[in-house]
Amino acid sequence: MPSSARKSAEPSGAFLSDVKTLRARARQRLGDGAVTPAYTADVRKTIDILQTVLATEIVCVLRYTMHSIAASGISSEAVRAEFAEHAAEEQRHMTEVAERINQLGGKPDFNPQGLASRSASEYKEGEDLVDMIRENLIAERIACEHYRELIRYFGNDDTTTRVMLEGILGNEEEHANDMHDLLVAHEGKPMLPSA
Ligand SMILES: [Fe+2]
Ligand SMILES: [Fe+2]
Repeated sequence: MPSSARKSAEPSGAFLSDVKTLRARARQRLGDGAVTPAYTADVRKTIDILQTVLATEIVCVLRYTMHSIAASGISSEAVRAEFAEHAAEEQRHMTEVAERINQLGGKPDFNPQGLASRSASEYKEGEDLVDMIRENLIAERIACEHYRELIRYFGNDDTTTRVMLEGILGNEEEHANDMHDLLVAHEGKPMLPSA
């Protein structure tokens, strides 16, 4: 194929390395594992950010687990089941984030010391069933806000981390919606203005 024809087939503005260059670059710096020269984020900063996400997820596992056990009252069975389901999903997020930290060459921080201050969301026990639901809704909204910002921050510099966070965010939005619906059902009034 003439070089002019090949050039016109490429998307405008895209830079693509040839196979020989890709192969040669992959043989260098093997100690970096999955982090290759085309990784344009700051890997140390990514790991630090993901430690905060990890702490947030751990706190969510603990809070939902505690609530699923402590929730009591005549109408608590369905709520307890929802709390337990969320606890299991938060645990899945926790593992995903810890594995990503490991892939990037970091050590996931599971140290209970300082956990509450590393986390974006808070560990709140809640006074009663409605209070527990409300605290979980607040925590989910914090997580959604935090992850939305991070998704924009990572952009195309670390697409794997971004895609992982997009998946987790989708799940947190469902959690927030579940907690909102439970709050409406148990408080007996809509939380949000209808118009
Ligand atoms: Fe989560
Ligand atoms: Fe969640």
